[in-house]
Amino acid sequence: MKQRNLVAISAGLSQPSSTRLLADRLAAATHRAAEQHDTRLDVAVIELRDHAHDLMNHLLTGFPSAGLRQTLDRVAAADALIAVTPIFNASYSGLFKSFFDVLDDTALTDKPVLVGATGGTARHSLALEHALRPMFVYLHAVVVPTSVFAASEDWGTDSVQGGLANRINRAGAELARQLDLREPATVTDPYDSPTPFERLLAGD
Ligand SMILES: Cc1cc2nc3c(=O)[nH]c(=O)nc-3n(C[C@H](O)[C@H](O)[C@H](O)COP(=O)(O)O)c2cc1C
Repeated sequence: MKQRNLVAISAGLSQPSSTRLLADRLAAATHRAAEQHDTRLDVAVIELRDHAHDLMNHLLTGFPSAGLRQTLDRVAAADALIAVTPIFNASYSGLFKSFFDVLDDTALTDKPVLVGATGGTARHSLALEHALRPMFVYLHAVVVPTSVFAASEDWGTDSVQGGLANRINRAGAELARQLDLREPATVTDPYDSPTPFERLLAGD
C-alpha cells in the first residue's frame, strides 16, 4: 500500500465552522477514494484562524513565526492540498489570500489541489471559478475539475446525502486519482547545495 500526505486548509472564522466542516468532508472523501487506489492518506487539517496574527506579522516583517514556518513547510511537503474558504464579498476571504501570499511561490508547483468554499448564497458559487481557480493556476498548481461550494441551505438534515455529498465524493475521487498518477512530493532545500562563496564574490 502506498502512503501519501494530504493537507486540508480551512480559512473558516467561526467555531464551529461550516468551512472546517466542508474541509473535513472533502478530506474524508479523498481518503476513501485513495483507498481504492491502494493508497493510505495521512490527513492534516490546518485552521488558518490559528495563524491569523502570525500571517499579518509575516506580511509586515517578511518573517514567519516558528509555528507558521512549520505550517508553510507542511503545505510545501504535502502530496495534495484541499483549500476551503468562506466567501466574503464574492471572493476568497482576506485570511485565505494572506496565507497563499506568504507561501513560497513554488510550493504548489504541480501539486494537486481541490478547492472548496462556503457561503450564504449559492448565487456566489462561481467565486470558486473566477477567484480561487485562477489564483491556484497562477501558482502552477493542478486544480481538479470539480470544485465544491456549500451554501447555508446545503447543511440541512440531508447534508450527508444528495447534491452536496455527490459533489464532495466526485471531487475527492478526482483528487485521489491525481495523487495516484504522481510520485511522492519532494522538497528541495536551498541550503543543501549552497553557491560557494568564491562564486558569489565573482558575481556568478
Ligand atoms: C464580511 C462577510 C462577507 C460575506 N460575503 C458573502 C458573499 O459575498 N457571498 C456569500 O455567499 N456569503 C457571504 N458571507 C457569508 C459567509 O460566506 C458565511 O458566513 C461563511 O460561509 C461562514 O463560514 P464559517 O461557518 O466557516 O465561518 C459573508 C460573510 C461575511 C462575514
